[in-house]
Amino acid sequence: MKAKKSKTKCKSYYKKLKESFALEKELFQNLLDNLPDAIYFKDTKNRLVRVNRFYAEGFNLNPEEITGKTDFDFFPKEQAQRMFEDDTRVLKTGEPIIGKIERTLLPNGTQNCVTTTKIPVKNRKGQVIGTMGITRDITVYDQLEKNRLDMVMNSLKVLDRVLEVKDPYTFGHTRRVSIIAEGIAKGLGWDENRVLELKMSAELHDIGKILIPLEILNKPGKLTELEIRMIREHVEMCHDMLKRHTFPFPLPEAIYQHHERLDGTGYPRGLSAKRIIPEARILAVSDVLEAMTFHRPYRAALGLKKAIKELEDNAGSKYDQDIVKIAIKITREKAPTPFWLNQDSTV
Ligand SMILES: [Fe+2]
Ligand SMILES: [Fe+2]
Repeated sequence: MKAKKSKTKCKSYYKKLKESFALEKELFQNLLDNLPDAIYFKDTKNRLVRVNRFYAEGFNLNPEEITGKTDFDFFPKEQAQRMFEDDTRVLKTGEPIIGKIERTLLPNGTQNCVTTTKIPVKNRKGQVIGTMGITRDITVYDQLEKNRLDMVMNSLKVLDRVLEVKDPYTFGHTRRVSIIAEGIAKGLGWDENRVLELKMSAELHDIGKILIPLEILNKPGKLTELEIRMIREHVEMCHDMLKRHTFPFPLPEAIYQHHERLDGTGYPRGLSAKRIIPEARILAVSDVLEAMTFHRPYRAALGLKKAIKELEDNAGSKYDQDIVKIAIKITREKAPTPFWLNQDSTV
């Protein structure tokens, strides 16, 4: 009688356990099927072992049809390689990658912007047996951000135009500096946002000249000591205008330093190498390249050869060596015409 009672108790315990397990499974499946994010599990060879409905629908497939495939079956090679490297890093280190922002090319040819989190999946012994990823589409927010930045960039261009109207000899200078700076930053592998921030600094770098008398800015021939000092004040003036505003990147400082030189011979503060930020180092090289290859009121253009020689002769002493190397490389790729003159710098 006692044994029968215990058997019944055991049966009901297992029944409850089974029900609770089924409920957990159902909840998990529900979550997978209804979350508007792509969720995927991969094995130690980065093969997809399970994906949710949202992921599969992105490729017009059923989740089962994706099992066993890899990112190389769905994405362009370079993109798939980056994903493979991230998965491998998580597998090897056991460390997650949280909220990485990526731009991906969809099968329908459109670009989207996503944030991806990859975490290691571990067994009871703590060994990594695969990865789990969650990718969320943030294209709408990315577009909003881009629209805002476009608005800021356009305002800067208007401001720039004011300077150009006042000083037609430097027409397009800041835009051409911006084109060179962009090329260098991309060559250094900077991400899209940082490149854009640098371009903003380039667009504004000489805005302080707006406060310098026109007769001095456009004076043909040699400048006096006093006039040189007055022109140099454009850096301080620009910094004074900008420093009271908050920027999410070092825009005022980059502009403040664009005439500084690594050996301390620059102005206005004579900073030495370790205090000069990368943005200012790029602006300095871009500014010299543009200034030497374009005419000025007091002299004709000096030419690309002389500009490259100036950079080569002073790489490591006045100018950042790596930046000079990239600047010369991208310039030579497009020679004989400087690439900043090929593009429309008036828009
Ligand atoms: Fe300047
Ligand atoms: Fe400049």
